[in-house]
Formats: sequence, C-alpha cells, structure tokens
Amino acid sequence: MKKWLAPWKKLVAVAAVALAALSFQFPTAQASEPDIGPTVVGGTRAAQGEFPFMVRLSMGCGGALYSNNLVLTAAHCVGSTGANTSITATVGAVDLQDPARVQIKSNYVYRAPGYNGSGKDWALIRLQTPVTNLAKLPIATSTAYNNGTFTIAGWGATYEGGPQSRYLLKASVPFVSDDVCGNAYGSDLIAGEEICAGYTQGGTDTCQGDSGGPMFRRDANGAWIQVGITSWGYGCARAGYPGVYTEVSTFAADIKAAAASLGG
Ligand code: ARG
Repeated sequence: MKKWLAPWKKLVAVAAVALAALSFQFPTAQASEPDIGPTVVGGTRAAQGEFPFMVRLSMGCGGALYSNNLVLTAAHCVGSTGANTSITATVGAVDLQDPARVQIKSNYVYRAPGYNGSGKDWALIRLQTPVTNLAKLPIATSTAYNNGTFTIAGWGATYEGGPQSRYLLKASVPFVSDDVCGNAYGSDLIAGEEICAGYTQGGTDTCQGDSGGPMFRRDANGAWIQVGITSWGYGCARAGYPGVYTEVSTFAADIKAAAASLGG
C-alpha cells in the first residue's frame, strides 16, 4: 500500500485544511474566561467608558447593547430560538476582572430565521435585568454608512490561535467593497448580507472571540452607529483576506421587528 495520497486526495486534504482555516469557529458553550492576553489583532486598549455598549458573552463572543434588555450578537454564537438562561452577559467594564463589572443572565435567545451557517449571522439575546445606565448602540437602517473607516472592538484573540483578552481592545479598519472581498472569498461571500473590512496588507482584524461584537462608525451627527456584526474570515489579519461582518442595514427591519416581539 502506498502511503502518500493520490493527487486528487491531496486536493481534498488541502481543501479540508483550507476549510478548517476558514474559521467559523463555534465558541464552546459556557467556556470559562481566560484572563490574559490582548484582543483584536493589531488593536490597542479601549478606555473605560469609551464604548459603553460593548458586551462580553459567556460562550466567548462579543455583543452590543441594542436596548436596555437586548444584546445584538452573531447567530453562530447562540443556539436556536427559545427560552435560554445559560448565557451570562458582562457589561460596564473594559476589564473582565473589574470588580465593578455587571453580570446579567439571559432569559431568551432569538436567532435569525433561516440561519444555516451561511449569511444571516445575527441574533438577539434578552437579559433578565435591564441595563439602564449604559449607552446603547443604534443600528444602521440604510446603506448610507456602509463605507469609510470602521471601529472594531472585542475581547477576542490578538493573533490566530492566541488566547482571549482580559481587556477590551479596539482598532480601525477600512471598508472593502464586495468586488474586492469576493475576489478573496468567492461564493463564500454573501454580498447582500455581508460587509467586509480590513487593510490590503492585513495586520489589523477581528479574530476568534470577537464574533458577535459590533463594527461601527460615526453617523452624520457624530454619534456611533452599528454597521456590522463580527462574523468570519480566513484566519485573522492575513493580507488579502478581509474580515467579514454581517451587514446590519440589510437586516435592520428584521432586527427591529424581532426586538419589538421580544419586548425590547
Ligand atoms: N468567527 C470568529 C468568532 O467566532 C470571528 C472571526 C473573525 N475573523 C476575522 N478574520 N475577522 O469569534
């Protein structure tokens, strides 16, 4: 028996490795929070109170306060729609060990209808106790802000395969057109549902553990507005492979209707 792979099998093996690197890494439910390392590749520390709407979720994802009792996150961070008291949201602190942090349990998960692992990567988590003292992050309801420079933030890995961060990190990344992004990802990119961002040369990006967190920018009045939800990418911060984010404007009406149905 020959030990090496036939050429077609090599192709299959290479494709399998490539797919594995195309990281939709599903966070393990209720993983405990590691307490060291920075987050967001190429990022710097966010100041306490700089992004009051940022939420850390116990399954190892990010999120944003949409209303007093609803957190907008990624569908791939949660299970199916229904009552759910298994998630803990940490709010009000850039340092996950801050004694002043506030931790609130979930009571319901609403995952985007039709979510099947490709596109539609959004979900709402309802909290047991409302958060009244922190600013919320409004979502973009048109494509007007799907351009320019975006801010990304999270407690995820600071390099591929790296540990999660104790401190909230932030970075800026430029918009990448569907055309250019499609050159990298081909049919994996759902252009109408996803928006890409990153530098041609790489170096700055969201990474594992940042999923579900917001990508945002300033609106015409200088207020923060959410344009994306961290979703996926090929590795992290690689040249030629931008980060892929849920295009919030595409789902704004659905998110609004879902929020209303959840009493949020
Ligand atoms: N899917 C990842 C997560 O669950 C986010 C990956 C973002 N990757 C990227 N290259 N921008 O945390």
